[in-house]
Amino acid sequence: MLWALHFKRNMPSHTVYLTNPEATFQAGVFLAENCSLPLFVALNGDLGAGKTALSQGLARGFGIQETVLSPTFTLANIYDSPRGTLYHLDIYRLSSLEDVYDLGLEDWMQAENTLILVEWQNKFQNWPIPIPVLEIELSHTPPGRSLKVTFPETCQSLESAFQQWLN
Ligand SMILES: Nc1ncnc2c1ncn2[C@@H]1O[C@H](COP(=O)(O)OP(=O)(O)O)[C@@H](O)[C@H]1O
Ligand SMILES: [Mg+2]
Repeated sequence: MLWALHFKRNMPSHTVYLTNPEATFQAGVFLAENCSLPLFVALNGDLGAGKTALSQGLARGFGIQETVLSPTFTLANIYDSPRGTLYHLDIYRLSSLEDVYDLGLEDWMQAENTLILVEWQNKFQNWPIPIPVLEIELSHTPPGRSLKVTFPETCQSLESAFQQWLN
């Protein structure tokens, strides 16, 4: 089954207000600690909305201790953790979806223990993605950010854990 991102009927979502960068980081930690793999995380939101900050939390929750840097200039950063491999992409500077796949995305999605984070995912439409997709939308809501997370069918336990975490 392909998890086409434009096809999202009845997918549950939760929105949370993040008062500071630490709250953004901790939301990422929680999601990665509790997610099952493989997972593709679509990270969307304007410049400065917190996509990299959330990615840093996701990386920590995935078991990566080293500092995760923004992939704005490197395009893709790859990290190994005891749980598997993290691919952190920022596709803002790429000009087509083909260029994204040329980085190696198709191979990366074949492995079972993969976590793929893509900042600016919605720059391109109609991604063929054979693994579950968690959709993240961050927006500036001064003084903090708001975070909307939309869960795929296969992430029901993550969704209920996240809901409980919010309460
Ligand atoms: N909840 C928040 N409230 C206030 N500032 C935040 C919050 N989350 C992240 N930030 C800050 O916003 C700035 C931009 O974050 P960044 O993750 O680099 O954005 P993006 O990757 O979306 O461009 C950073 O200084 C970060 O610490
Ligand atoms: Mg960024």
